[in-house]
Amino acid sequence: MVPLLNTRERYGLIAQLFHWIIVVLVILQFVLGFTAHGLPISLERLILLARHKSIGITIFVLVVLRLAWRLYSQPPPLPPSSHPLSNTAARLSHALMYALLLAMPPVGWLLSSASHLTVAWFGLFSLPNLVGPDKRLANAMLLTHESMAWLLLATVSVHVLAALWHHFLLKDAVLLRMLPFTRRATGKQ
Ligand code: HEM
Ligand code: HEM
Repeated sequence: MVPLLNTRERYGLIAQLFHWIIVVLVILQFVLGFTAHGLPISLERLILLARHKSIGITIFVLVVLRLAWRLYSQPPPLPPSSHPLSNTAARLSHALMYALLLAMPPVGWLLSSASHLTVAWFGLFSLPNLVGPDKRLANAMLLTHESMAWLLLATVSVHVLAALWHHFLLKDAVLLRMLPFTRRATGKQ
């Protein structure tokens, strides 16, 4: 049974749940965002964007909780066999992913406010508009949101390749220790 807290060998269940729930939501977020972007102004586009905004707010809250949990329960150190340069790259890419997941929702909120569209969370409550309608600001925020999305996609791709590299080529326990169904995070340390 995977422990709730992180240990020196592996991520605990809570950290794993945060990781994998956020992964699923971020994938959904990309599908909704890119699909809506390709549609002409229509009810379908508005519905997709409303879901996109609700999921984006959810991701923001989950990332804040995840970082608080990370402070409380320290993540396991990387295996001593991994190269110092790859440790630095891992730390930097993790920090960049956290930064983007925290920055994209406020930029999206500003983008929606400047486009005169209210942001609501699954129809249950609405966020106040941050600014009045402003076409120039909306265009700048759209460009920022889009650029961040591509940067996130690139970082996540490198991150996933690195996890697979560790598992299949280095044959260490880095991937196993983020998986809930492995009995032990075994492998060469
Ligand atoms: C981490 C969370 C988020 C991610 C990963 C994300 C990602 C994306 C992606 C990939 C697109 C399509 C980009 C494109 O236009 O080509 C997009 C579009 C958009 N996003 Fe987000 N987003 C996030 C959060 C939010 C939030 C919280 C809001 C609003 C409150 C928001 C508002 C929008 C809007 C309005 C568009 C449509 C832009 C357009 O095509 O007109 N996003 N987002
Ligand atoms: C949207 C996609 C993803 C995002 C945003 C993401 C983000 C992150 C972040 C921020 C961490 C650092 C955890 C910490 O605070 O210590 C992490 C760790 C990790 N992720 Fe992901 N991840 C994604 C997808 C994946 C996928 C698909 C895999 C597997 C193929 C994966 C495997 C791992 C592993 C093994 C770790 C632990 C690395 C270590 O021990 O240092 N991730 N991920």
